[in-house]
Amino acid sequence: MDIAERMDFLYERLKELNKAYYEDDAPLVSDAEYDTMLRELAELEAANPQLRRADSPTGRVGGRRDEKFSPVRHEVPLLSLANTFSGEELRSFAARCEKLAEQPLHYVLEPKIDGLTIALTYENGVLTNAATRGDGLIGENVLDNVLTIRGLPHRLQGFAGRLLVRGEVYMPKSAFAELNELREAAGETPFANPRNAAAGSLRQLDAAVTAERRLAVWVYDILLLEGRELPQTHSEALKLLGDWGLPVIREHFAGDIDAVVAQVESWQDKRHTLAYDIDGLVLKVDDEDIRSSLGNTAKAPRGAIAYKFPAEAEETTVLDIQTGVGRTGVLTPLAILEPVWVAGSRISKATLHNEDYVAEKDIRIGDRVLVHKAGDVIPEVIRALPEKRRGDEQPFVMPHICPECGSRAQRQEDEAAWRCLNRRCPARVREGIYHFVSRQAMDIDGLGPQLINQLLDKGLIADAADIFALTEDMLLPLERMGKKSAANLIAAIDQARTRSFAALLTGLGIPLVGSRAARTLALHYPTPELLAGAAREELLEIPEIGATIADSVLGWLADAENAALLQKLLANGVQPAAEEAPAGDALSGLTFVLTGTLPTLKRSEAKARLEAAGAKVASAVSKKTDYVVAGEAAGSKLTKAEELGISIISEEELLEMLAGSDA
Ligand code: IVH
Repeated sequence: MDIAERMDFLYERLKELNKAYYEDDAPLVSDAEYDTMLRELAELEAANPQLRRADSPTGRVGGRRDEKFSPVRHEVPLLSLANTFSGEELRSFAARCEKLAEQPLHYVLEPKIDGLTIALTYENGVLTNAATRGDGLIGENVLDNVLTIRGLPHRLQGFAGRLLVRGEVYMPKSAFAELNELREAAGETPFANPRNAAAGSLRQLDAAVTAERRLAVWVYDILLLEGRELPQTHSEALKLLGDWGLPVIREHFAGDIDAVVAQVESWQDKRHTLAYDIDGLVLKVDDEDIRSSLGNTAKAPRGAIAYKFPAEAEETTVLDIQTGVGRTGVLTPLAILEPVWVAGSRISKATLHNEDYVAEKDIRIGDRVLVHKAGDVIPEVIRALPEKRRGDEQPFVMPHICPECGSRAQRQEDEAAWRCLNRRCPARVREGIYHFVSRQAMDIDGLGPQLINQLLDKGLIADAADIFALTEDMLLPLERMGKKSAANLIAAIDQARTRSFAALLTGLGIPLVGSRAARTLALHYPTPELLAGAAREELLEIPEIGATIADSVLGWLADAENAALLQKLLANGVQPAAEEAPAGDALSGLTFVLTGTLPTLKRSEAKARLEAAGAKVASAVSKKTDYVVAGEAAGSKLTKAEELGISIISEEELLEMLAGSDA
């Protein structure tokens, strides 16, 4: 291939990748692969300017408007950032800035959040406009949706002038994991990463759908300020925005280029302790006057640059591809991997999502593959390495019968998933019960998968309601079951009888109803009887319940078998407690573990504030831990939390939770 052909290839491929990323919210390759191609093209263009196309992706800000939303012309064009990949390149960036500015400079280093740009306008201190970036000049009006984002003030505190700010809408890691779990259970294609999940959630025509998704926002740049002087430095700007009540990035660091480059290293590990996914860092000239005097190239400001983390992918072998059956009957191909360490944890399995995913990526049994953690949490096979094939690799064939019960599986036209339609499929029943007793649902201590399997095998239970009819005598003949453990289990079951109605609703596994929607429903309908009588229009009046969820709930309730299960639960002595509106003890029932040095709070302070909000603070991480708050130099507790898949949050997120709890 000569140079012109290679450039043509890159133009076409990048165009295709841009469309997938910006318009379909479904990237075809990793960011690192995209960046490598874009870089190669930029280098070829620099060496062969006569071959450069006017519409080259190297010279344009990606993204496009969607016809669904009304267009908004940005008062200040929204540029992009140039990328660097090493400390060396950051130093050359600084050298260029310092040469142009004719003086040594200070910089601010902040996380580069993996979300999507949002431009916010406050008029007289009130949020009046919110727009996506679009092509940088014209974006989409997404104000209705942005108004549903928690933690973003609709009115600024202590400033009644005009402010245009730029920020990033993102989805925290834990919300991303929960959303994908719900999507997979519902037979929908999961989002590839938190960025796509955030984009897909923000660009919803129905703001109620956006409200269901746990989106968050950070602001990081003042675009325009009227009614007071501009701060002199970026650090001061961040402080000012924070004082006005806007969510700003707490983890930023200012210093000269040596100090900043030294920080870059420590971020490789620190990134995993954040509650949100970052794909790199952003380096900005701290002095605002100097930063703006440096001006812009066609695409990016000269006074700021991105540093992209190296892709954290590892190579391993697909030992087998098995098919699992979930509680909703969805068949999910699962890659069994030769164990490998990725981003701090050992990965031996990765979901392959659905039939199309395996086919598109052409992943075969025996293949060498690259694996990473999507959104820093979910193990995922990025791609196969076909160049390493030896010829004996086996393509995967999706079974068209349920691997568990043998009944015919079906694939609905508008779904990516094959489903086992047999409601009594042992796998579905088993998985449904695991979910029912799990911590986010009825939380029955000591009733783990092994015990459930025994109870099912021996015919002691056939559904979740049977759990509440168990007696000590029934348990005693089971393997590894002494008198004491039987008594403990019965006590734990008794305790679960009065769990909240939200916990029960979560446990029932109504499609699309996760713990959050369950809580919202239970707040409006405190008892099963009241919910059973809910009318559609009424459900739709609840701000966080959209039509899809409402229909799913009504469909579930209208089903005779479901109604019978609910009746049987009540008959067997389940008496769900009414949900209480969030009050001063909104964190009650949650267990936190603190580790490392927190940026502003002393450990004793954090502990006191958590306890005041009703939370428990434990000293060691266990399966019972809900959140680990990780600070600087967090050690083995953090590793343990990662192994157990416990949500890891920063002080920032902790403060947000505490702030939310006194509302
Ligand atoms: S500053 C003129 N700061 O990264 C550009 N951008 O790759 C000003 N991003 O489009 C951008 N975190 O959407 C800036 N702390 C941060 C950021 C950040 C994420 C995004 C932003 C931008 C993209 C560029």
